[in-house]
Amino acid sequence: MDSVATTLMQQYEPRYGSLAFADSSAALAQLGRYTADLKRLVREKEDALRQIEQAHLAALTLLSRAAEFRDDDTGVHMDRVGLLSQLFAHLIGRSEEESRMLRMAAPMHDIGKIAIPDAVLKKPGGYSTEERQVMNNHTVFGAEILGQSEIPVFQMAADVALTHHECWDGSGYPAGLRGSQIPWTGRVVALIDFFDALTMDRVYRKAFSDEQALVMLAEQRGRKFDPELVDVFMQHVDQFIQLRDEINAAARDYAALLRPDSSQLAREAGF
Ligand SMILES: [Fe+2]
Ligand SMILES: [Fe+2]
Repeated sequence: MDSVATTLMQQYEPRYGSLAFADSSAALAQLGRYTADLKRLVREKEDALRQIEQAHLAALTLLSRAAEFRDDDTGVHMDRVGLLSQLFAHLIGRSEEESRMLRMAAPMHDIGKIAIPDAVLKKPGGYSTEERQVMNNHTVFGAEILGQSEIPVFQMAADVALTHHECWDGSGYPAGLRGSQIPWTGRVVALIDFFDALTMDRVYRKAFSDEQALVMLAEQRGRKFDPELVDVFMQHVDQFIQLRDEINAAARDYAALLRPDSSQLAREAGF
């Protein structure tokens, strides 16, 4: 604050309050300076927060990528789950901001697999009860890793990691939540993850056709999945499949997961 303004404020403060000045033009000038200073401070704070968010996103997406690698995946699954979930959020009327956050949060759903021993994660054939329990814990580990951050997108990612194996009828894990107890983000990602995983080649089986996967999805309406979400997916299935094919054709690199503008592909797809 400059010295004239300080003197003026000291002189008039007791009588008129802290913003009293000798004349209104001095007051306006001072207010103008305050406003400019405040705007600059807010801008700097927002820039710093954005940089922190980007750094967090880079680190955690990389960790998710490492977890997916161990599960014999190419990484495109992560990209597809993000963009298809964003489309889903958009179709069910979520805000642009929430939809954009889900695109970043959804690819981290299996980050907790980083904590699962290879002996379990890569075991061919069925699991014993104990091994199944270890495997199921990837949800809790994931939520622990992501929940360390207070940034909203990671809070959302922690919710998704924790609840993407909960089932609408209460038969899922880790908590056996049912219906709308499961956050909408977890319900959306569960459905997209299921459909996408079925329609890709795995080491232990070939991909199911889209038609077969849709039949399997319909069978889980009201069981694994929120019936209303299954209906929305079926209604817009052409749009989902078109977007998925575009993602596959674009052969986007890993860095695309980190670019806020990577939803360009989604915009081009018409939402
Ligand atoms: Fe999972
Ligand atoms: Fe997945």
